[in-house]
Amino acid sequence: MYLGLDLGTSGLRAILTDETGSVQAEAEAAFSATHPHPGWSEQDPADWIAACKATVAEIRTKDPAAFARLKGIGLSGHMHGATLIDAADTVLRPCILWNDTRSITQAAALDAAPGLREITGNIVFPGFTAPKLLWVRDTEPDVFEKVAKVLLPKDYLRLWLTGEYISDLSDSAGTAWLDVGKRDWSDTALGEGAMRRDQMPDLVEGAQPGGMLRADLMSDWGLSEPVVVAGGAGDNAAAACGIGALGEGTGFVSLGTSGVLMTGRDRYAPDPGSAVHSFCHAVPDRWYQMGVILAATDSLNWLARNLREEPADLSSALPEKATGPSRLTFLPYLSGERTPHNDSAIRGAFIGLDVAMDRADLTQAVMEGVGFALRDSLKALAGTGARFDTLFAVGGGARSRFWLTTLANTLNLPLSLPAGSELGAAMGAARLAICAHTGATPEEVMTQPKAATIIEPNDTLVEAYDAAYDRYSALYPALKNAG
Ligand code: XUL
Repeated sequence: MYLGLDLGTSGLRAILTDETGSVQAEAEAAFSATHPHPGWSEQDPADWIAACKATVAEIRTKDPAAFARLKGIGLSGHMHGATLIDAADTVLRPCILWNDTRSITQAAALDAAPGLREITGNIVFPGFTAPKLLWVRDTEPDVFEKVAKVLLPKDYLRLWLTGEYISDLSDSAGTAWLDVGKRDWSDTALGEGAMRRDQMPDLVEGAQPGGMLRADLMSDWGLSEPVVVAGGAGDNAAAACGIGALGEGTGFVSLGTSGVLMTGRDRYAPDPGSAVHSFCHAVPDRWYQMGVILAATDSLNWLARNLREEPADLSSALPEKATGPSRLTFLPYLSGERTPHNDSAIRGAFIGLDVAMDRADLTQAVMEGVGFALRDSLKALAGTGARFDTLFAVGGGARSRFWLTTLANTLNLPLSLPAGSELGAAMGAARLAICAHTGATPEEVMTQPKAATIIEPNDTLVEAYDAAYDRYSALYPALKNAG
């Protein structure tokens, strides 16, 4: 049996699978982020441990016999978070998350450092880990002085599970301290970020062993055989493992809190200028590239909150299929934007409000705006030579057929809806654990699901969506000047 743990922004999801990936039991525990100042986003790492304990307890209750046969654990986690610990492993301050933009100034300075984009393959975004540490140095020097190790969120969970400081390459690629082509820490990048190699965890590939479960946890959880903890992956690479998106032409579009358009790459083809993210994949000798938009379902959640509705109710008030673009345009820059603008200061807008419009119009415009933002990412990715032969649609927003048909039309690409429900990052994490324990190759284990449904773009509407996309594209410069 294998445990896949996905440490998400809003909670931890745990699944127990057998060696074929068939799910035996699952559990979830929620936690939240705090926003003590505008642009700040933090979590207490103690909440992650509590959520891990709670989900393991629930799985043990649901299927004690299966849990007792646990052989491996795989970890997935939200990327880029800075968990700072001192020499006694005490957490020094709340973890600064991926969607925190306080380090704009430090990110810009690092991004301008000669050679850094070449080494890391990416723009240094404020969401990445390195600028956060410079912010701590500049703003909280007492904390900075005590930093013995910086751990990404899932690797702090690993420290609790195994007692070891280890990370995997896919997650570490999002720090801006890694040489993403060479798959190793870069002393130059670390130096620019005022960090040292000894403050970094050891690196393993995602499917390699990355520690063993501590003896005291084994006895607490009633386990008698050793349990390996796989290197694991950042959540997007883990999701790619879950859906079998390893190489060229296979990818997914995810409508989660953030929106992601990703594709596997057999070669390293960075293009930092376009704000495309180029990271190591969770499997050896592969990379992946993605465009990231900061507010996908977050945009719908924002609208629902302000209309005092549930997001699902807003979605279900729309027809089953998109029948053409709205006259109302929404720019989803509620928390700034990464791809393609790399602009933490920009904020969103509705343009074209009419007295006759109602909440359904607002909902449609929000879904379209997210679709257009993802089309920006598609354009940027296409510029690196990336292909999209198979594009799976995943994430909470993919439950809305209206949103999916809108997305197929805005991207002008068919979307595959995978058959089977458990294909996300937790499954990718479990698959990495299977590889780490059995020695099976990732290609054997990380197969693609069958597509249950293919959502084709509507040829008769593509032109109208193209025109709406052109209107959308013209608005970013106007908005930037207005701000
Ligand atoms: C990726 C990113 C987000 C988080 C969300 O660069 O910041 O997708 O990983 O969990």
